[in-house]
Amino acid sequence: MKNKIVIITGANSGIGKAAALKFATEGYRVVMACRNMDISAAAQKEIIEITKNKNVDLMKLDVSSFDSIRTFCTAFKSKYPQLDILIHNAAYLNHGLKEYQLSSENIELSFATNTFGPFLMTRLLADHLAKSSDPRVLNACTTNIKNFFDPKRKIEFDNLRGELKGTRPYSTYKMYGDSKMGLLMLTFKMAEELKSKGIKVNALMINRVKLSKETIHKMNSVWKVFARLQNLTNPLPSDMADNYFHICTSDEFKNVTGQLINHKREIVNPSISEVGFTQLKNVFGSSSYPKYATDPENVEQIWNLSNTLIENKIS
Ligand SMILES: NC(=O)c1ccc[n+]([C@@H]2O[C@H](COP(=O)([O-])OP(=O)(O)OC[C@H]3O[C@@H](n4cnc5c(N)ncnc54)[C@H](OP(=O)(O)O)[C@@H]3O)[C@@H](O)[C@H]2O)c1
Repeated sequence: MKNKIVIITGANSGIGKAAALKFATEGYRVVMACRNMDISAAAQKEIIEITKNKNVDLMKLDVSSFDSIRTFCTAFKSKYPQLDILIHNAAYLNHGLKEYQLSSENIELSFATNTFGPFLMTRLLADHLAKSSDPRVLNACTTNIKNFFDPKRKIEFDNLRGELKGTRPYSTYKMYGDSKMGLLMLTFKMAEELKSKGIKVNALMINRVKLSKETIHKMNSVWKVFARLQNLTNPLPSDMADNYFHICTSDEFKNVTGQLINHKREIVNPSISEVGFTQLKNVFGSSSYPKYATDPENVEQIWNLSNTLIENKIS
């Protein structure tokens, strides 16, 4: 594995850091793509010390900013000959926040970070991925998308550029789920688009994992208590990091693309029915995802919007 290169976004804490540790332990060349260089340098040092793998690089990236993504990708391409694995792990979710947040390019912050950023980054790195003999992209999704089993739930396409900022009630939790649904829909479309280059694109439906103390530290006091209680029973980030590793390296997933995979490493299928007993199974299980994700009108909307927003950002 000595020459295989993996980029992990948000690799300074939680699952991303655990994944960086796992890949470094297995001898991969790891690029930690992080926004806070001081905090992340400490994580990088720790990973190098534990694994004795010196090929753990740290490069600056703010996934919520198209400009930062472009700068990162240019720097990465001039430094590395190819890319084997790209893991979009970083995400924005500020629990309990009710104030609409915009990115530097005036896009709602959850969508900028969790949906359009990974979309642009994958596009910019596609040619470098295509140089690998087994290129794989993994998008970190969430069980929160199951909220779309509610037929009333829709992505707020009319409110992703601050249009209704201050007038429509805003919840980061809802916007987070919407943005991850957007990411899932783009996963399916990008997998089709990149098939001709041999690039596999999948998403992992993460259920629950112990939150890092850094993440808990950012929460307000009510959410802090809630998060600490949940942490008593939630599994360690390293379990989910093992899933990242398995999906991105194993023979089992070598030819799998355009799929949502659950924490048990099973393929999740579109629901066959969203009423009655089947709906109960949908909501409480992890074997199906809402039909909303593959509805052609919804997919076209997110696809067109993503392409419009990143126009002029492809170099
Ligand atoms: N933990 C769970 O229970 C759970 C459940 C479902 C899904 N997930 C998903 O799993 C992934 C990892 O979650 P986690 O719990 O391990 O998260 P975490 O510990 O909160 O880490 C999130 C990482 O993302 C980074 N990040 C946020 N915004 C960024 C930006 N604009 N640019 C670059 N990096 C940015 C953070 O960097 P800073 O340190 O600079 O903030 C941090 O390194 C996420 O995609 C999350 O949505 C997690």
